[in-house]
Amino acid sequence: MPDTFSAPILPDATLGMLGGGQLGRMFTIAARTMGYRVMVLDPDPASPAGQLADVHLLADYRDPGALQQMASQCAAITTEFENVPAATLDYLAAHRPVKPDAAAVSIAQDRVAEKQWLTRYGFATAPFAIINTAGEIAAACAKIGFPAVLKVSRMGYDGKGQARVSDEAQVRAAFAAMGGEICVLESLLALECELSVVLGRNKAGEIARYPVSENIHESGILTMSIVPARVSGALAEAALETAAAIATRLDYCGVLAVEFFIVGGGQPLVNEIAPRPHNSGHFTLDACLSSQFEMQVRTLCNLPLGATIQHTPAVMVNLLGDVWHDNGQPNWAALLEHPETKLHIYGKQNARPGRKMGHYTCLDASLNKALAQALQIRARLGGEDNHD
Ligand SMILES: Nc1ncnc2c1ncn2[C@@H]1O[C@H](COP(=O)(O)OP(=O)(O)OP(=O)(O)O)[C@@H](O)[C@H]1O
Ligand SMILES: [Mg+2]
Repeated sequence: MPDTFSAPILPDATLGMLGGGQLGRMFTIAARTMGYRVMVLDPDPASPAGQLADVHLLADYRDPGALQQMASQCAAITTEFENVPAATLDYLAAHRPVKPDAAAVSIAQDRVAEKQWLTRYGFATAPFAIINTAGEIAAACAKIGFPAVLKVSRMGYDGKGQARVSDEAQVRAAFAAMGGEICVLESLLALECELSVVLGRNKAGEIARYPVSENIHESGILTMSIVPARVSGALAEAALETAAAIATRLDYCGVLAVEFFIVGGGQPLVNEIAPRPHNSGHFTLDACLSSQFEMQVRTLCNLPLGATIQHTPAVMVNLLGDVWHDNGQPNWAALLEHPETKLHIYGKQNARPGRKMGHYTCLDASLNKALAQALQIRARLGGEDNHD
């Protein structure tokens, strides 16, 4: 709809959040800190954001009554995950400003659409081939070669919906195991490192970029982000420029994250984009003048962009359910004895392996010291001196 809503939205307006996970929770904290009211839509009664919201609409993302309530009571609406049904975004956008818009979200929620969009606009990616049906497997294998990764086009996250494959038979088996859904076959790259950029962009086209994050993954899940990334200034600048160009090309409004693969000293390859704050941007909560969640509030409310200056080098470590042995608590004393380490817990009830339960960020004027402390804490958290 025409944007008749470009005036600033000020506290104590109500902001709508689609999704109640940890990203929604941290948005809720930022928004409520600034005096806004927050309405969260999530079908899970125990959702991390729902616990802290002013109003938790316990309903499906397509529920007409819940959507009508959001549209009538929220001054503006945003999302914390890319798999919101397009019809939901379209309905809400007909009544209220929704940021980011449905067009950007629909690209980010579909790997095929995302890769085709990136290619069309000249953003380099890993070599890929699309597999719509089993009949296209042979041609895709011939084009991409091995080793490769087969990724389901929709609904994958944290490395789920992916399989590493080293011959055509494995591709066939993995394609069948994913239910014959549309997939992308991608070259498995020898990564030098992985980087990401989080930025905020407003309607006027202004962009505020956070420093580049260097990301360590294990089993397809982000485990650690080191910021600023230990790469050359030229490489960091190339990543920042690429992320900004993507946001501009999308005419994006909101917080955008772009993940990059770095291979052999070449230009950054775009892995994927996220139309929301990103796990690798959690360092901004403690290490920057304004966090990525304050940025989300600011872009949603037509306020000036937040200040992205990083005041202290930072290492963020994810706390996965694995460190909650037998559902006992991790060795928190080993972490909390360090006043320059910040703990964030998401309020999830059950600690399952691989589930993101929280994170901590180590801060130090020396990035190496922050990293050493992050690793030391990591070793002790689930270690033998853990008395529940
Ligand atoms: N083509 C590839 N070559 C090398 N490593 C890869 C490749 N694709 C994925 N990976 C590894 O797996 C990780 C997860 O991949 P990807 O970002 O595609 O998955 P995801 O499930 O969408 O994850 P998330 O949403 O949590 O970022 C990457 O960050 C990287 O470490
Ligand atoms: Mg990813």
